[in-house]
Amino acid sequence: MKARVSGTTAKIVGMLRDHIVRGVYAPGEKLPSSRALAVELGVSRTTVTSAFDQLISEGYVLNRQGAAGIVAGLNSGDFGNSQQNGKIGPVELSSYADRILSLPPSAPAARPSLTFDFKYGDISASDFPIALWRRAVSDVLLKTKGRLAYSPPEGSDSLRRELQRYLWRARGIQCETNQIIVVSGSQQGVDLCARLLVEPGKRVVVEEPGYVMARNALTAAGATLLPVPCDEQGLDTSKLPDVETVSMVFVTPSHQYPLGGVLPIGRREALLDWANDKGSYILEDDYDSEYRYDVKPIPPLYQAGSRRVIYLGTVSKTLSPTLRLGYLVLPEQLADVFITCKQIMDRHSSTLEQEALASVIESGAYERHVRKMRRAHGERRSSLITALAESFGEDIEVVGSSAGLHVVVWFKHLRSEEGQHLAQAALQKGIGIYPIDPHFLGERPTMAGFVFGYASMSSKEISDGIAKLKVVLATILDK
Ligand SMILES: Cc1ncc(COP(=O)(O)O)c(C=O)c1O
Repeated sequence: MKARVSGTTAKIVGMLRDHIVRGVYAPGEKLPSSRALAVELGVSRTTVTSAFDQLISEGYVLNRQGAAGIVAGLNSGDFGNSQQNGKIGPVELSSYADRILSLPPSAPAARPSLTFDFKYGDISASDFPIALWRRAVSDVLLKTKGRLAYSPPEGSDSLRRELQRYLWRARGIQCETNQIIVVSGSQQGVDLCARLLVEPGKRVVVEEPGYVMARNALTAAGATLLPVPCDEQGLDTSKLPDVETVSMVFVTPSHQYPLGGVLPIGRREALLDWANDKGSYILEDDYDSEYRYDVKPIPPLYQAGSRRVIYLGTVSKTLSPTLRLGYLVLPEQLADVFITCKQIMDRHSSTLEQEALASVIESGAYERHVRKMRRAHGERRSSLITALAESFGEDIEVVGSSAGLHVVVWFKHLRSEEGQHLAQAALQKGIGIYPIDPHFLGERPTMAGFVFGYASMSSKEISDGIAKLKVVLATILDK
């Protein structure tokens, strides 16, 4: 237990500590005796002795019984000075850190509060099944007995079992429970693949335009990214690079992000053949497959090539991106190393949330919620398409609207720079719209394009926001 020190003692401790840190008393040097100091400061000798005791317990002074205190050596000679004047010595970072520092700045997490925000990735808090989740979490808590121990890194048994069944029902995926690893969102799944399957300097094919967060994880791992163009059908497999080896391909075949194409069967076969030829794994990011509107669900690539394909899913679009829960389905030969790496990264994802999700899936409530959300998002999507058509008619082209929670809108008569200007002007009026440009690794499009997310807004907000955007555009064009 820490002894209480009086105000006077604390002042003396502070003064002596400061002198030691500044080097007034150097390491190894004797401090003045307690008697001399007591006289000099006009305090009792006991007060000075208590101050010495405190400095001894903090490690600034060596305990030399019977003799005056000796100043201890500090780890770094200029520690105190650097703390005082705010300077820090040169910082040596790893090459991993250097690669992270080379990434383009990402959008700030805290954004201004906007009246109409078409930010993709957010979903409406009012869509979250609060009562259902609260019940599931509290059931888990009540059932938890005995110790609170670490859980298996690969995820809780119950969730992996439920995911195996769900993936079979919803996506026709046949896999064993031991191929499934629960991860903290898709992002951790990509990061695990990047760390474990990509040697720094080796090649990874990514979609162009594509998902920035996946590219960032791959770049951080040291991958050499080879962007392959996408069109209205997704990855253009005729443009896959003719190089000797490629470690991995990152694709969104069911709904290309951001352009929305669905990879047709011919291209799927071409991609699998190419990956076999190059010895490459395919990371299939199936991030929004729950939301199909005018089209039938597309079977995942995994079904056709389960030895080469790693399947990645998430609940960020069905429940909440804040839960940070996703899952990898791995070829069996990869499971062990992924599990150990996951354990090194964060031990395991939150057990409470995993167990709650397992019970929600088991009861059938998850799939009921997904169906409800499909209807709700379908209505939002219709409102957006109608509002865009009413406000901009033939001046725009909307792509990728048959699935997911976003569309891409090209403004045919606006150049990319004018698009940036429109986004700025819209922001001033409380409307958030987001240019597509950062999704391109190479040459940016000349035409202005935007990714419009609609999952966090009501149909009315969507219609009102687009009507207001029309006014902003008209003001710009008038100038
Ligand atoms: C292409 C793509 N993949 C995955 C995700 C979901 O990521 P996470 O599961 O890490 O929230 C998103 C989210 O917007 C996405 O756009």
